[in-house]
Amino acid sequence: VEHLLGIKYLNENDINLIFKTADHFKEVINRPIKKVPSLRDITIANLFFENSTRTKLSFELAEKRLSADVINFSAGQSSVKKGETLIDTVNNILAMKVDIVVMRHGNVGAGVFLSNHVNAKIINAGDGTHEHPTQALLDSYSIREKLGSVKGKKIVIIGDILHSRVALSNIFALQLQGAQVKVCGPTTLIPKYITSLGVEVETNLKKALEWCDVANVLRVQNERMDIKYFPSTREYTQLFGINKEILDNLGKKIVIMHPGPINRGVEITSDVADSDQSIILNQVENGVAVRMAVIYLLAQQIKR
Ligand code: CP
Repeated sequence: VEHLLGIKYLNENDINLIFKTADHFKEVINRPIKKVPSLRDITIANLFFENSTRTKLSFELAEKRLSADVINFSAGQSSVKKGETLIDTVNNILAMKVDIVVMRHGNVGAGVFLSNHVNAKIINAGDGTHEHPTQALLDSYSIREKLGSVKGKKIVIIGDILHSRVALSNIFALQLQGAQVKVCGPTTLIPKYITSLGVEVETNLKKALEWCDVANVLRVQNERMDIKYFPSTREYTQLFGINKEILDNLGKKIVIMHPGPINRGVEITSDVADSDQSIILNQVENGVAVRMAVIYLLAQQIKR
């Protein structure tokens, strides 16, 4: 693949190659000297048109660990505010001899659009409610690390599926690797097309948790929310919030994941998020190695 625009453009071999490469980089970043010189001739621009903590910092660190030159752009402090278009913005940045663009944008398909109009490798760091491919890769990588493999595992994605790019990319990635996937949440926050992807819907949280090996808990995305979709926050927490009592009554120890940022006390309580069942910070740690792998593999296609 020429770019990383979504998991739907990958196959199982692509994912295996990314994970094998990430295994190597994970070992590298645990050494006293955490850097390799591989990409010292490559320049990467991180363009963030939407807010981010984890993805932005993780990409920047991954790029620096590979010795690439890095420039960062946040739309809020840029000439986008004066009306400059996306293509003009990116072409001006590319005129400074940039090889790879990492972009987060609020619009679905922004990465595909960019890849059709500019001459650089594009990595989608989240496009609206569509895909967040590196998040899904680091999530699967973390499941594989914790449980030995993804194949045959039962994963439930819980919460605001409708507005979640993490859910869609995870569904594609998990299915490619032979996992069984269910979603669980209020029917108002589950898109109608989800069953056409081979994903079962479970609206009873207890049943979903009893079924699964792993629960990937999503944030309720208030910023994308239309009031008609939303049970009240209190109702949401009563029906779909994960707390220690629910987990302790399951009679088995499931793995808890969350892509962050967490609404503590809404979709998950602190005693669950911070428990030994949670791999939330392992996900963040693995994000750097997985992003190093993605960048490294794409950079091998650049003539230099
Ligand atoms: N998981 C994730 O995408 O977090 P950020 O929005 O902070 O990047």
